[in-house]
Amino acid sequence: MTQAQNPAPAVLSQDDLKTLVGQAALKYVVPGEIVGVGTGSTVNKFIDALASMKDQIKGAVSSSVASTERLQALGITVFDCNDVAELSVYIDGADEVDPKGYLIKGGGAALTREKIVAAQSRQFVCIADESKLVKTLGKFPLPVEVIPMAINRVTRQFEAMGGTVVVRLKDGAPLVTDNGQYILDVTGLHIVDPLGFESQVNQWPGVVTVGVFAFQKAQVCLIGAAGGVKTLTF
Ligand code: 5RP
Repeated sequence: MTQAQNPAPAVLSQDDLKTLVGQAALKYVVPGEIVGVGTGSTVNKFIDALASMKDQIKGAVSSSVASTERLQALGITVFDCNDVAELSVYIDGADEVDPKGYLIKGGGAALTREKIVAAQSRQFVCIADESKLVKTLGKFPLPVEVIPMAINRVTRQFEAMGGTVVVRLKDGAPLVTDNGQYILDVTGLHIVDPLGFESQVNQWPGVVTVGVFAFQKAQVCLIGAAGGVKTLTF
């Protein structure tokens, strides 16, 4: 991992840090191309910044209905993922970032589409504030998108690993993802082997996507910190 640092004002709110990294990500957007766009409050800052160069890009492939709506409201064309062979860059946030660029994602319930767009991109540039940096993945409740009929079975499998599982709710009912599935949030895990863990959970019937991004890890992470934007490369 290598690091570089740019100066910035000393007192910055978390929202300011998100704005900083959202703007810093613009330099990874290739003029004339289509950019992959993630989901979340940090990505919203990136989308807002991207509006300033909307006439220089062809458009975006989006990882959620929410991001699609925000992009379109700003006049940015959104392409269907199936109509685009490869993207040069994918910009997205994360819930946790480890020292190798392995991530936990899915706090915004968009993990499946995020993993698809990340897999379709040559470079994943993660944008986050420094609170997301961890030594080992697992403190943030791990989101797992699951087909509803497999909820209890998958819950038992995580419990056998020592995890505690809750079905994510919205307005008192299970949250339904953009793909029509449920989200399990799993606490109590200590993910020391992200590649092995992702491979294992991917095998469980009913799991659509596990929120460990090890095979689709970040190559670059722009971290908003009190001292400015740090660039981590993995
Ligand atoms: C959505 C995600 C987000 O990227 C992640 O939850 C971080 O969100 P935020 O930028 O709001 O902290 O994975 O599914």
